[in-house]
Amino acid sequence: MSLLEVKNIDVHYGDFLAIQDVSLNVEPGTIVSLIGANGAGKSTIMNTICGLNKPTKGDIIFDGNNIAGKKANQIARLGLTMSPEGSHCFEKMTVQDNLLMGAYLEKGPERMKRLEDVYRLFPILNEKKNQQATYLSGGQRQMLAIGRGIMSQPKILLLDEISLGLAPVVINDIYDKLQEIAETGLTMLIVEQNVTRSLSVSDYSYVILEGKVVMEGKSSELNESEVNDAYFGIGDFAH
Ligand SMILES: Nc1ncnc2c1ncn2[C@@H]1O[C@H](COP(=O)(O)OP(=O)(O)OP(=O)(O)O)[C@@H](O)[C@H]1O
Ligand SMILES: [Mg+2]
Repeated sequence: MSLLEVKNIDVHYGDFLAIQDVSLNVEPGTIVSLIGANGAGKSTIMNTICGLNKPTKGDIIFDGNNIAGKKANQIARLGLTMSPEGSHCFEKMTVQDNLLMGAYLEKGPERMKRLEDVYRLFPILNEKKNQQATYLSGGQRQMLAIGRGIMSQPKILLLDEISLGLAPVVINDIYDKLQEIAETGLTMLIVEQNVTRSLSVSDYSYVILEGKVVMEGKSSELNESEVNDAYFGIGDFAH
């Protein structure tokens, strides 16, 4: 059974139909990726799943609950954690306090155990734990955002463009960590603009073009040049 099932959703911004009849499935223990160009609607889909946008049509079933239109904090409490685009953190707070915020509902010993797990995964965050988050580099901020997501021990972690603005070597490093995280069994829905990277990191991919799913399949079985055509709306995907 799917952990997350998005069924035929529409999302409007005023009169503008940003997402049209989108359906997605995320099986437990897998990494699913949304691929698409700037403005395709990837963040809108992610924000709708986590309750920041409301769908104007369709259902979103998460772990047996219909969460479409529910408030973001209610959805978070069910075990769905989102790390939004731009790796937001609490700038004036220390790295460690930022991480602890991710598990604010937990008691002391459990929080500290999770903190140790995150530091094992990202040793640089341990080194910087007493610094204000505002002084972190782009890559370190992204690690902090992922670490904070892990601290909540969600059933699913949504990551919107974790590679935005980072150098390739840093991106590779972060994706290696994602594989490590996936091996612990955590289910992830990610947004990635780079087709090659997306296909190599995920189990299943959806290509989004102008608010619609135009291609989907097992990442290992998708043809990269066909994905590229779908991504850019070329050939069969032109309108
Ligand atoms: N708050 C908003 N109000 C009105 N229109 C919006 C809003 N947010 C997004 N849009 C529009 O919805 C469409 C989808 O935007 P979205 O941010 O979901 O794209 P994206 O695929 O995440 O792009 P990017 O790769 O640049 O982050 C775009 O046409 C965008 O201009
Ligand atoms: Mg986006």
